[in-house]
Amino acid sequence: MSTSRRGQGRWADRPARYGTVTRWLHWAVAVLLLMQFTTVLSWRWVGDTPATRALSSVAPHGLVGLTVFGLMLARLAWGWRMRALGMRPTQPGTWTGHLARAGHITLNMLTLLIPGTAILRAWASGHGMAVWGVRWIPSAEREMLFLEAPADLLHSTMAWGLLFLALGHAGAALYHHAVLRDRTLDRIR
Ligand code: HEM
Ligand code: HEM
Repeated sequence: MSTSRRGQGRWADRPARYGTVTRWLHWAVAVLLLMQFTTVLSWRWVGDTPATRALSSVAPHGLVGLTVFGLMLARLAWGWRMRALGMRPTQPGTWTGHLARAGHITLNMLTLLIPGTAILRAWASGHGMAVWGVRWIPSAEREMLFLEAPADLLHSTMAWGLLFLALGHAGAALYHHAVLRDRTLDRIR
């Protein structure tokens, strides 16, 4: 059955190219992660200045992270659906193809688990999270250290890992485009 007969048209993936939904979700998450790391790194490198405060008020860390979490749930559900329909682009059976597939799975898992651990930590701390006067994450009735402590340890550790992996991933995509001159980048843009 053709994709248009399924009523999904260009929204759906095709074996040769990711569809509109996958592409929008990919770039929306990439832009939000860029915002997240720009803010975090400017606090580390520049410190408390009017500019870093302005950055944090325009893009509050917790809210940008919650948005990433929501988009990732949609992205994984959509990816599973497309894979089940046999419409997802596949990787070649070479070692670089296996590496690319393992890299994509790890990127997706980290991008879900990083905000996931932060949400768990906020809830288990007994404080929850409120931004702009709205309570976005409720709080547990009492502090639960056995959940809070591992989540606390994992959140920033996984986030730095994601930064390095995403840089490697973007570098590999640009290598395909500029050096190998194949159509890998066209699959997602
Ligand atoms: C895509 C999502 C997220 C990314 C990439 C991310 C990234 C990071 C990074 C790199 C740090 C370490 C900062 C440093 O050491 O200077 C950090 C810390 C922190 N994040 Fe996130 N974060 C995300 C989502 C969230 C969410 C949803 C919340 C709140 C519910 C949150 C709350 C915090 C807090 C309270 C800290 C300071 C404590 C710590 O270092 O673990 N983050 N985050
Ligand atoms: C400038 C930044 C980026 C570039 C140039 C880029 C490029 C690409 C390209 C070319 C593909 C298709 C690969 C293929 O089909 O073999 C792809 C897929 C993918 N990218 Fe990126 N990417 C970027 C940022 C990111 C970031 C920050 C993440 C972190 C979540 C990410 C996660 C993924 C995943 C998981 C896939 C597989 C398809 C999917 O599940 O959406 N990318 N990317």
